Amino acid sequence: MNPGRRTIVADAAALAREGADRVAGACRWAIEERGRCSLALAGGTTPRAVYGRLTEARYDSLPWDRIEVYFGDERWVPGDHPDSNFRMAREALLEPRRLGPEQVFPMPTGGADRERAADEYASLLPERIDVILLGVGEDGHTASLFPGSDAAREEVRRVVAVCGPKPPPWRLTITPPVIRAGRRVIVFASGRGKADAVARALEGPFDPPAVPAQLAREGEWLLDEAAADRLRRRGDE
Ligand code: 6PG
Repeated sequence: MNPGRRTIVADAAALAREGADRVAGACRWAIEERGRCSLALAGGTTPRAVYGRLTEARYDSLPWDRIEVYFGDERWVPGDHPDSNFRMAREALLEPRRLGPEQVFPMPTGGADRERAADEYASLLPERIDVILLGVGEDGHTASLFPGSDAAREEVRRVVAVCGPKPPPWRLTITPPVIRAGRRVIVFASGRGKADAVARALEGPFDPPAVPAQLAREGEWLLDEAAADRLRRRGDE
């Protein structure tokens, strides 16, 4: 993998197409290497557009039965709630691709004990996730690791409960060690609103607790022109 690799495409539609190709290629790479692929999905509208593209016939040949689906974060709502990342992924990708409960591991949200749910999920996460997908917030958050939060500094637990500024506030999220251990980390960012966060994440002073998306700085970044607008260096590293 080319650390810090960045790919800039024209617009959001091109990003969804390129993103689907990149995710499919990464899953195929993991399956060829190890026979299976652990794939952690992100929430948000940018990742969702990529998932929709993955349902196209051109990806039918991907060994979908070899892919285990996890989640990088989840809102603390029931799995059928409109704000649920699991519901979004189920509708956009999991149901169309007929991925069954034996290969999909949603975060256990909506119950009474968030910390217990976080520890429960941490225990079933692979030691190293093969492919981690991430979005980026305008404030520089990724997954549900928000700037200045304790979770963005967490170095022991692999999943924690957070109360963040992006509604709905309560969430579960993977932590920095999990992102750093990802074999391939693919970040999607689209739109001018993300340009400042992308520039700080890729080129700003390295301070991940302040800019959690920097945790993926050495990953593969897929950007549209608008989101890349503030970058000084536009080519692959
Ligand atoms: C979440 C996401 C979050 C998201 C970014 C980008 O559950 O909210 O995991 O990290 O990926 O906020 O979201 P958009 O693509 O919708 O801007």
